[in-house]
Amino acid sequence: MRITVVGTGYVGLVTGCCFADLGNVVTCVDVNRKKVQELQKGIIPIYEPGLEEIIKRNRGQRLFFTTDLSKAVQTSDFIFIAVNTPPGKNGEVDITNVKAVAKGIAQHLNGYKIIINKSTVPIGMGDIVSQIVQKYGPSNVSFDVVSNPEFLREGSAVADLLRPERVVIGASRRSAAQKVAEIYKPLQCPIVITDLKSAEMIKYASNAFLATKISFINEISNLCDQVGADVQQVVKGMSYDSRIGGQFLNAGLGFGGSCFPKDVSGLVQIGKNNKFKFRLLPEVLEINSDQRQYFLKKVYREVGSLKGKTLAVWGLAFKPNTDDMREAPSLTIIPALTAKGAKVNVYDPVAMPRAKSMFKKVKFCKNPYEAAKNADAVLILTEWNEFIQVDFQKLKKIVRKSVIIDGRNIYDPIEIAEKGFVYLGMGRGASRIF
Ligand code: NAD
Ligand code: UGA
Repeated sequence: MRITVVGTGYVGLVTGCCFADLGNVVTCVDVNRKKVQELQKGIIPIYEPGLEEIIKRNRGQRLFFTTDLSKAVQTSDFIFIAVNTPPGKNGEVDITNVKAVAKGIAQHLNGYKIIINKSTVPIGMGDIVSQIVQKYGPSNVSFDVVSNPEFLREGSAVADLLRPERVVIGASRRSAAQKVAEIYKPLQCPIVITDLKSAEMIKYASNAFLATKISFINEISNLCDQVGADVQQVVKGMSYDSRIGGQFLNAGLGFGGSCFPKDVSGLVQIGKNNKFKFRLLPEVLEINSDQRQYFLKKVYREVGSLKGKTLAVWGLAFKPNTDDMREAPSLTIIPALTAKGAKVNVYDPVAMPRAKSMFKKVKFCKNPYEAAKNADAVLILTEWNEFIQVDFQKLKKIVRKSVIIDGRNIYDPIEIAEKGFVYLGMGRGASRIF
């Protein structure tokens, strides 16, 4: 099939590349000229496991990059919109980019096309896109607008796109939805065909529900700290109940990234715009931002005054396997530490080039051990595998004080204590079974 994907960010680029890998002819369009020029040379702007190989396999044969929307639209049957929908001042969803793309598509329509929105957009956006295309497009050309929200996660985006648990397609005409479903047929996954607005709502409801799970378990975790229970054991015990499940119940520093904070705030605003006041979701957001402060208090309690102290920070990205720094807990935690006079040494396996301009008065280190040199505590902010496999004997010789404050619960408290470290996790109470 001939497909155009507009927007070459995490979603657009991965979607375009994977569609090409499935045998389609794909043109990826972006307004960012530099990004496009680099992609044309095979330089990938983001870190995403598996993406480089796919681009290598398809670039120049089935996969093309351009800034020229007009040719891309005219030579495709399916046009995906995958541009960013950033949060506005009050958390509302900024739909400027989607509207601009809809207008651009309209101005170049030369025959029937299916316009598919993959960006996360307020409920009702499908109708707005239709109105824009009708207003700016030729009157003698027909089109369909379809909603196809994306559920991939950064760090496993390629795998998520090629092995989705479900694909959601919303449309006002079933025939258009079925044509889009054909693109996903090789993936052999459940395909939910529904109306436009329900599809748009599925996306927000899914993200808000996952974010709620995280805030829920963080509150349970903080109570575990108080009463001496271990949240990991609690989750294990809960997870066998198939109504609950074990996923998205990792207590820690709260959710970051470009999606959960933005989409939960966005949904609250969508509610307000429709005379509906969410009561649960503002709390979900507040619990989430408090969780960073809760971690900082643990640090202050354990290390004492930070003046003249050295702290090693392992992990900067908002989650492992990505270099994305958007809404990363490190962006709140590190400035708080340096403001209190701590010398902070940081290490992240992939996010450091991106993070360099984001932190002042911080030493960027080549590996976790260099960061830990003479440290009064090692703080874990991202659960990279590299930290799970650390050599504790080596670490013990390097640090000034054997203290690990683990914001991601990557270690077993008993094992770490046996290695001679003071270990503070999140909700890892002292109660033990012997
Ligand atoms: P991104 O910021 O990584 O990339 C967006 C791209 O769109 C940029 O390259 C930008 O230059 C381009 N763009 C903006 N306006 C344009 C225009 N008028 N014409 C052409 N290109 C334009 O964004 P992203 O993370 O890929 O997210 C895209 C959408 O998908 C958002 O709505 C987001 O909420 C949603 N989403 C993101 C993820 C994720 O994991 N990042 C997952 C699911 C859904
Ligand atoms: C999330 C969703 O998982 C995707 O399904 C969705 O498509 C995407 O948002 C989006 O709409 O953009 P992503 O933000 O890439 O994907 O990453 P997640 O793995 O969901 O993690 C989000 C945040 O929650 C991270 O900061 C992570 O550390 C945190 N998290 C996750 C927890 O604190 N605990 C958990 O149990 C799980």
